[in-house]
Amino acid sequence: MEPHGYPLLFSVFLFIFLATSPAASDLHNIPHQIHPLRPRSGAHGHEVPGLSCLSWRLGVETHNLIGWKTVPEQCEKYVGHYMLGRQYRDDSKAVVDEAWLYAQSLKLAGDGKEIWVFDVDETTLSNLPYYAKHGFGTKPYDPRMFSSWVMEQKAPALPESLKLYKKLLSLGLKVVFLTGRAEDQRNVTAANLNDVGFHTWEKLILKESYYSGKTAVAYKSSERKRLEENNGYRIIGNIGDQWSDIIGTNSGNRTFKLPDPLYYIS
Ligand SMILES: *[C@@H]1O[C@H](CO)[C@@H](O)[C@H](O)[C@H]1NC(C)=O
Ligand SMILES: *[C@@H]1O[C@H](CO)[C@@H](O)[C@H](O)[C@H]1NC(C)=O
Ligand SMILES: [Mg+2]
Repeated sequence: MEPHGYPLLFSVFLFIFLATSPAASDLHNIPHQIHPLRPRSGAHGHEVPGLSCLSWRLGVETHNLIGWKTVPEQCEKYVGHYMLGRQYRDDSKAVVDEAWLYAQSLKLAGDGKEIWVFDVDETTLSNLPYYAKHGFGTKPYDPRMFSSWVMEQKAPALPESLKLYKKLLSLGLKVVFLTGRAEDQRNVTAANLNDVGFHTWEKLILKESYYSGKTAVAYKSSERKRLEENNGYRIIGNIGDQWSDIIGTNSGNRTFKLPDPLYYIS
């Protein structure tokens, strides 16, 4: 799929979502003149007494909330609107803009050893079409269903991340993809990345079976350490949607956290 397929695809999803959601009429009923400085919580309202979904999402993004298994039931619509609406794209752009400012400020050696680490899911490839069909993270993770979605090889690119990727390459940085996807998904992952515009990389590192039972923090730290200490790379930047992408050892000179209120990986 072409990267420009993305807005169309998501407009279709947005349409289906709004058309089937009772919130659709709410959107048209928000008075324009009232509380201009105090919008209702979240992307488009859906405040539930006792739980602000916006505060919940802030807790997720700041890593105050850890180890959570599913999105709170009451926040399904909130998360759906956030992900399919403008805010997710705007938040992603803000992260990428900052990463690009940083990258441009660097005095690079240009020795081919300077790398930028990208995560894959929700960083370069979006699984939003899957999550839009499966309750926006409110349902427990289903490895078999998710794996069959991955095997379809239909994940669109995150458009802002694709822009960053292209600009970083133009600076002479090398890109390494480091993903929690399993080694047996190498071909489909490589083909999907290539299909949506990520045409080149220094390495694509997938999770070997000997990491099973280890956390993503342990796995990713260990692989980054190997990149730096055994292969002589220097991790200049590192971007991911999970805190486990950017904490731990050898995390890079700077790290960038993309938004992701759909799931938590420790
Ligand atoms: C992946 O691709 C390689 C090279 O094209 C091929 O040799 C291998 O059999 C493929 N592996 C799987 C699991 O499809
Ligand atoms: C990255 O951090 C290391 C260690 O602090 C430092 O020596 C190096 O100059 C930094 N590299 C860049 C490109 O800023
Ligand atoms: Mg990810």
